[in-house]
Amino acid sequence: MKKIIITIDGYSSCGKSTLAKQLAKQLDYTYIDSGAMYRAITLYFIQNRVDWVSHEAVKSALLDVHLDFVPNSLTGECEMFLNGENVEHLIREMLIAEKVSEVSTVKEVRDFAVAQQKKMGTRKGIVMDGRDIGTVVFPHAELKIFMTADIAIRVERRFKELYVKNKNITIEEVKQNLELRDYIDANREISPLRKADDAIILDNSQLGMEDQQSLVMQWVEDAI
Ligand code: C5P
Repeated sequence: MKKIIITIDGYSSCGKSTLAKQLAKQLDYTYIDSGAMYRAITLYFIQNRVDWVSHEAVKSALLDVHLDFVPNSLTGECEMFLNGENVEHLIREMLIAEKVSEVSTVKEVRDFAVAQQKKMGTRKGIVMDGRDIGTVVFPHAELKIFMTADIAIRVERRFKELYVKNKNITIEEVKQNLELRDYIDANREISPLRKADDAIILDNSQLGMEDQQSLVMQWVEDAI
């Protein structure tokens, strides 16, 4: 069967990665979490005290950043490696969530990540989620999805995920972080989050996983 590129963009905590993973499994495609790359770069900048306001500092720091997606031997799911170290858990921490959108506004950071993402698409058969995948990374993708959901539902989903690891986290903290990230992502100068003209909107506020999957599988068939 013909392999295609599927892009999933949208607001924070809409369930993009859950859907993308399921889809990749069902189609035997590779799932790529582009947000993990921005998170890993942010982690590197924090760990190495890189001043991301300085273009020179960012340029020179990025020379030392090597990112890899490595499949977990048990789950088969790709995990983020930064300079040879598995940082999959570290990049999900609140400290990273608080800074990642700022770091993602920097031109050199975007150029660095986008160049690698474009390369990953040369073999097709991929599902990539993020903010600018259908607009900038793969403007010619065969299927583009733009996901959204009510803010209250997104906050609740994200809170449940984070609470498992951190019992001190509050709903208000999560809400503020999601709103701030959405604001920065949608209003930045370079590659802001927006729906590609030819993307299909998927509002999953009231949709369970099975419904979403069957809907999207129909779109995949139409696109192939
Ligand atoms: O997808 P996730 O929520 O992990 O992404 C974290 C952050 O990385 C986003 O809030 C956004 O600032 C940035 N990002 C981006 N472009 C992408 C993917 C993520 O700017 N393609």
